[in-house]
Amino acid sequence: MVTGGGTGIGLGITKMFVAHGAKVVISGRREGPLKEAVAALPNGSAAYITGDVRDFASCQKMVAKAVSEFGRLDVLVNNAAGNFVTPSEDLTPNAFKTVMDIDLHGSFNMAKASLEELKKTKGVVISISATLYYKVTPFQMHASAAKAAIDVMTNSIGVEWGAEHGIRSVSIAPGPIADTVGGPTGRVFGTGAKMPDIRTIVPIGRFGTVDDIASCVLFVASPAGSFINATQIVVDGGHWHEASNGFLRGKDFVRMKSDAERKAKGSGSDLSSAKL
Ligand code: COA
Repeated sequence: MVTGGGTGIGLGITKMFVAHGAKVVISGRREGPLKEAVAALPNGSAAYITGDVRDFASCQKMVAKAVSEFGRLDVLVNNAAGNFVTPSEDLTPNAFKTVMDIDLHGSFNMAKASLEELKKTKGVVISISATLYYKVTPFQMHASAAKAAIDVMTNSIGVEWGAEHGIRSVSIAPGPIADTVGGPTGRVFGTGAKMPDIRTIVPIGRFGTVDDIASCVLFVASPAGSFINATQIVVDGGHWHEASNGFLRGKDFVRMKSDAERKAKGSGSDLSSAKL
């Protein structure tokens, strides 16, 4: 079951699971993208149901759909999210509530609605989180708070439902993923400004792809990932450290300074010509 499975990362996860033989039910608020997504997948591999994760009764219907369609529920992917950028002083109570409702309450609602089915399969809850709160991300107080709480919920579920029922719970935090609503050029963060050298943003030198995230979700859900529980996995090419810009700008100067200090002390070799 993939919430928000009709578009973006959710659709990528759905395709990845279908490509590996799983049957997937996707959900979302808008029927159009869901219908289109299912029609593009091999016959019988996927089904959809419209619904809103903010509404617990709707979540129960999504889980019931998965079971009536495919007989069981092994994997719940909490992917549905809502976001926008705004200074926190401009957030209205309803704006804050809306993001908390979709992201945090939605993930809890789905996990809770899935519990009885996941007990039967010793299944896994995988929630898409974010690195936003590892350091303060300006204009993202609402989403940061929601994703931080998702990680806490993930770990609690992994421990409590793990010990009691053998259900795992893991959250995956994507970095900047190309061609998504929440990606570097998408509606939420896109500015239209020319990008600087990509390595100043992501050390690995590229934006992520939807498949980078989908592969990680698949791995965590698979037997190969079955010892991963109650934790977070960051899939971001090293982006959240936000340190590569400083490294690239400062490297030559720091090497010179370091060489000079070592030479002044009469120790060490000339590192600028070291060939290690
Ligand atoms: N800046 C500040 N506040 C905003 C906003 C923005 N860009 N967009 C919406 N809000 C506020 C609204 O003003 C409203 O508050 P108010 O009633 O006090 O005015 C509140 O948020 C709810 O907005 P509404 O449009 O009614 O919510 P919705 O449930 O229809 O939509 C959103 C939810 C706003 C998150 C919408 O962008 C969405 O559905 N996104 C789904 C996809 C997505 O965002 N993915 C992100 C992946 S990172």
